Amino acid sequence: MNAPADISPAQRIDAIAAGLEAKVIAWRRDFHAHPELGNQEVRTAAIVADHLRALGLDEVRTGVAATGVVGTLVGALPGPCVALRADMDALPVTEQVDLPFASRATAVWGGQEVGVMHACGHDCHTAILMGVAELLTALRAELRGSVKFIFQPAEEGLPDYENGGAKRMIEEAALENPRPDAIFGLHVISALNAGTIGYRPGAMMASTDNFWIRIHGRQTHGAMPWLGTDPIVAAAQVVLGTQTLVSRQLDIMHEPAVVTFGTVHGGLRENIVPDEVTLTGTFRTFDEGQREFIRARLAATAENIACACQARAEVRTFKGYPVTVNDTRLTLWSLPTLEKVAGRGHVVHVPKTGGGEDFSYFQKEIPGAFFFVGVTARGTDPARAAANHSPHFRVDEDGLLLGMRLLAHLAVDFAARPA
Ligand code: NI
Repeated sequence: MNAPADISPAQRIDAIAAGLEAKVIAWRRDFHAHPELGNQEVRTAAIVADHLRALGLDEVRTGVAATGVVGTLVGALPGPCVALRADMDALPVTEQVDLPFASRATAVWGGQEVGVMHACGHDCHTAILMGVAELLTALRAELRGSVKFIFQPAEEGLPDYENGGAKRMIEEAALENPRPDAIFGLHVISALNAGTIGYRPGAMMASTDNFWIRIHGRQTHGAMPWLGTDPIVAAAQVVLGTQTLVSRQLDIMHEPAVVTFGTVHGGLRENIVPDEVTLTGTFRTFDEGQREFIRARLAATAENIACACQARAEVRTFKGYPVTVNDTRLTLWSLPTLEKVAGRGHVVHVPKTGGGEDFSYFQKEIPGAFFFVGVTARGTDPARAAANHSPHFRVDEDGLLLGMRLLAHLAVDFAARPA
């Protein structure tokens, strides 16, 4: 990929990116038509690895955390190491978008046959990062430092808490040899129009812990509840009582939080007080201290309310992803690059989102910044667009070139910054 020599380095990046756009769109469509669930991204990873090897990267590691691929490009000039990350997995969602490359794939998820779709746009992330690898390879002779391309499996989580994703990639040394000085990632998002980049210093996405509560009562005739212990009334009080964790006990002026019950199961028929009721749910926080507070108080509140009802609560919590916290200095440093890439007026400070991201694990290791890239067609109200994870999620592919330029400029600008 060649570009005229009489233009600035930044213009050269943009010229090469523009030349790669059609290729990136074609990769994205191919991945979209062939989505793979977490830890099963065998086809995707093989295409990525073949591409990186064909580019002649200095190192290409495969099979990292099951199907992950890590490529390292060493520039001709000395400098820092920057990591760029893309996730590769799809979701158990049956696609309902009318596209020639719509997915018709199926797979088994949690024992069930399901449709599989790139409903979160990770097909875009993978294609974008392949494009960035090709772009930066073309600049190798003038590239400072090294760039690590991290293609990660299983961001969306795995059934039965199977091990995978960013945490496992770190355990399998994705951030070693060389150790990156910073990491950047992006997510395509329906909430912004194509052409727009969203940023946020500090907490951006929530922690994603789940919980399971079983209320043990004692079964009896519904006409004579005093002869047993009613777990349904106790469960109802637990559902309401735990709402006060956020509304009365947490400093919501510091950060917001959410406690949601997603399932309530108990009982077999209308005139029997059952033996037990099982509740499950999730809580989201933007501060690790508040996360611990809710975890502890949720259990104590459920146990004590159940006790007051002469029932017993058994509580389990399951750690999800940590809070996605963008390094403030790094994020603010990146703003001029964002404006160069998207243009003034197209870089927006976004609100927090209650969704989670395992990019957070990388950020616990090294300074990291995560950005949103809009993929809702210009002229369409993003509030009316099908959201990420919807079977109707639709990507305006104009966002791909912007995403490629964003990561390429960040990598080059980071290496050139004064230490
Ligand atoms: Ni996603």
